[in-house]
Amino acid sequence: MKTNQIKLIAISAGMLVALSFTTISKAQTAGGWTIPAAAKATKNPVAANAASTAEGKDLYAKHCKSCHGAKGLGDGAKAATLDVSCSDFSTKKFQGTTDGEMFFQISEGKGKMPAFKKTIPEANSRWAIVNYMRTMAAK
Ligand code: HEC
Repeated sequence: MKTNQIKLIAISAGMLVALSFTTISKAQTAGGWTIPAAAKATKNPVAANAASTAEGKDLYAKHCKSCHGAKGLGDGAKAATLDVSCSDFSTKKFQGTTDGEMFFQISEGKGKMPAFKKTIPEANSRWAIVNYMRTMAAK
């Protein structure tokens, strides 16, 4: 085999490896969450009215505030003890995710983020938390 041919093969192989890496990373969201398309597209069945937002606020204070902080800035008391960021719910980027994505994240958890589908078994209560988290957008 000529040197040029060997070089060409090496370059092609390198490109293939690079290509497969891009494909893998695209299957996940920016924060490394893998959220199924169906979950992402699921509509919030609970109206964002005063009652559901108040229910969400109570549940948030009980289950989420310790890590995510009172305003969702990721500065709860427990946050400092974790080796990962608790995110910031006030950002445009976070608020740009769908209700379905948030609901999935709350239900399933990931790493240090607990799954709440058993702790808060009522799905509509988890949707109420999503409604409350919408009030955390930076003004
Ligand atoms: C023990 C600490 C802890 C508690 C309690 C906790 N979380 Fe989390 N949460 C995390 C961490 C850490 C992450 C980031 C996980 C990762 O990316 O690996 C996270 C991520 C999230 C995300 C995704 C953020 C993003 O930018 O994509 C949402 C939504 C979320 N939490 C909501 C909640 C809600 C709602 C509750 C309460 C029902 C809650 N969390 C309770 C630690 C916690």
